[in-house]
Amino acid sequence: MDVTLITGASSGIGEALATQLAARKQNLLLVARSAGKLDMLCTQLSNTYGIQAHYIPADLSKPDAAGQVYEECHKRKLTVTLLVNNAGIGSSGEFVKNNRQAELAMLQLNNASLVALCQLFLSDMIANKRGGIINVASLAAFFPSPYMAVYAASKVFVRSFTEALTEECKPYGIRVLLFSPGFTSTNFMNTPANDNAWGKVLTDGAYTQTAEQVATELIQAWKRKETFHVSGRLNAWAVRLGALIPNATVARIFASRKRKQMNQ
Ligand SMILES: NC(=O)c1ccc[n+]([C@@H]2O[C@H](COP(=O)([O-])OP(=O)(O)OC[C@H]3O[C@@H](n4cnc5c(N)ncnc54)[C@H](OP(=O)(O)O)[C@@H]3O)[C@@H](O)[C@H]2O)c1
Repeated sequence: MDVTLITGASSGIGEALATQLAARKQNLLLVARSAGKLDMLCTQLSNTYGIQAHYIPADLSKPDAAGQVYEECHKRKLTVTLLVNNAGIGSSGEFVKNNRQAELAMLQLNNASLVALCQLFLSDMIANKRGGIINVASLAAFFPSPYMAVYAASKVFVRSFTEALTEECKPYGIRVLLFSPGFTSTNFMNTPANDNAWGKVLTDGAYTQTAEQVATELIQAWKRKETFHVSGRLNAWAVRLGALIPNATVARIFASRKRKQMNQ
């Protein structure tokens, strides 16, 4: 059976995307750690929309997890025709004081597992001569971000990797989209490494979107066959204007804003 695989589907953008794709009659394979939430979501989506919704609980901050998800897919005879690498966490705070293990686990989730899933499923897509990949980056992929240094760098990795992969996949007819949300009201800022006043300042602006708006933009970008999309008109303008300013200047402005906020 053909399925769309969405990582990080138990909440936020991933859950909204799963719901909107189910409404469009897509069969789904949902991945995240929270088995209970995925179970409930799958039941609700299949009952409401008459689709097949499967899930695999997996902790993608573990090095073996991507391979296990891939093997489980094959065992269940599920063919992934669209892979959405959405799972990701953030961290903020002064780099030198952050928990090193948590930062490294974030890189495993945001980068290494994403790369592994792309490679594993891409080989099947090429063999089947069909398929597509959407990698979720961030506005942070375009700006050096003091006090979110490792998270932003992880998203720069997603951006560079995905833009290169887009070109490598063209000869096979496999489409790849780099999708970059801006500030979105989800649980993203409620994780232990990211739960702080600075994060809440960042996500509390007029530019903030809902997970549903972001999911809708992602689906539209994919339908329009885009290879690059920044979610939200203001965010897209910020990226265009930001490209005109030297990175060092952007970093200095962000750092000074953060220091002011810390001293309040
Ligand atoms: N919210 C924003 O402002 C914002 C802005 C730019 C980019 N993004 C990006 O958008 C993506 C989705 O984030 P969101 O805002 O929707 O946040 P969210 O509501 O916190 O959702 C994150 C999802 O990732 C899953 N996840 C977290 N750690 C995981 C792990 N170790 N293994 C497997 N799954 C894991 C979570 O499920 P479990 O906890 O059940 O594992 C959840 O389903 C992320 O890549 C994020 O970087 C978000």
